[in-house]
Amino acid sequence: MSSIVVTGGRPLSGEVRVGGAKNSALKLMAAALLAPGVSTLRNVPDISDVAVMSQVLEHLGAKVERADHSLRIDATTLTGHEAPYELVALMRASTCVLGSLVGRLGRAHVAMPGGCNIGSRKVDIHIHGLTQLGVQITTEHGFIDATGRATGSTVSLEFPSVGATENLLMAASVGQGTTVIDNAAREPEIADLAHFLVAMGARIDGAGTPTITIEGVSGLHPAEHTVIGDRIEAGTYLVAGALCGGPVTVVGFDPRHLDIVLTKLRDTGAAVEVGAERVTVRRVGAIRPVDVATLPYPGFPTDMQAQFMTLMAIADGDSVITENVFENRFMFADEIGRMGADVRIDGHHALIRGVPGLSGAPVRSPELRGGAALVLAGLVAEGETVVTDIHHIERGYEDFVPRLRALGASVHIVDELFE
Ligand code: UD1
Repeated sequence: MSSIVVTGGRPLSGEVRVGGAKNSALKLMAAALLAPGVSTLRNVPDISDVAVMSQVLEHLGAKVERADHSLRIDATTLTGHEAPYELVALMRASTCVLGSLVGRLGRAHVAMPGGCNIGSRKVDIHIHGLTQLGVQITTEHGFIDATGRATGSTVSLEFPSVGATENLLMAASVGQGTTVIDNAAREPEIADLAHFLVAMGARIDGAGTPTITIEGVSGLHPAEHTVIGDRIEAGTYLVAGALCGGPVTVVGFDPRHLDIVLTKLRDTGAAVEVGAERVTVRRVGAIRPVDVATLPYPGFPTDMQAQFMTLMAIADGDSVITENVFENRFMFADEIGRMGADVRIDGHHALIRGVPGLSGAPVRSPELRGGAALVLAGLVAEGETVVTDIHHIERGYEDFVPRLRALGASVHIVDELFE
């Protein structure tokens, strides 16, 4: 059990390079199962979620080799079609093998993810969509059992679910007929997945828009692909810069993927300069309060909500953050409250009264982004903040502590065994 210890009050400046997008890499790894042979993914972040997804692939019979930030996935022979509960419980995103197993084998047995710490996160949209495509689905004994391949149909999603869009995209790529996904999720990671699938021989049009059309093909071939930069990791360092002064420059991602976040940062009074694959942020004067409502892309990402709340916690006035994507994503508010923030939760709204400063405290990382946001809070708090349960942070941030330290932060990892 390790903790992150932060001593607040240091200015942050310099340049940080982000890695490949976690939420893209995981789905691309699943997509590699669709083709017999060896696919190569580059710019894959070295994070624990990728390690869990590697175990899922290996459980299915694929071979996964990592060399630096590349993954070589040999899916020549799949020996199973089950994603077991032990792995799905570790990482909900492993359910994305449902679509690729249906496409490759016409069979999948995937554990139901159940609840997680940001809400119930159902899979009904995935199941309904696959059923519409002609795949037979039963749910029994805690597993989703799928048989058959996609036969093509029009599927209108009740909500533009990222995971459901990805599962349908993968399942429909290998099959018969034309599939149209309406009200599809438009996240940049969906377009990235589609680019990889097209490189593998899939016929997909409209990924990144609300209507995606897929002409099923009889099989795919392996391909090479470079994962897009992680917009959420980038946004996290940009908020750190806005909190601590900057200038902080973040490189290695497409600034267009953070459009609304950059607009909101400017509204807080921060100076934001956008270049090709880089953004520089600098705090100018007091932080102005800004209201934010999370929405599917291109709306404000729910994965940036906690980091933004940290900024609002020390803003010069009151703000409201509305969480529209997940039902229970405010556990972070209790933790930052222990550092002196004034946050009241009313349903899916958080009312934040800016305070002049935060005070360092022992806090517990409630989930991935909330954990990172607590470290950010520690950067501006008076005294020492000790963030526990940092395995959540390690799920999605490679070298979070060294990268913050390179920007000037006083932050280190303490292994409790040696304390
Ligand atoms: C993905 C991202 C996550 C991000 C989220 C929203 C990955 C690994 N994770 O999660 O970081 O925060 O998109 O941008 O890519 N829902 C249903 N039924 C379903 C599916 C979803 O009710 O069948 C609900 C969920 O409970 C949630 C909302 O829809 O409230 C959004 O979920 P979804 O877009 O599917 O997110 P994920 O793919 O799980």
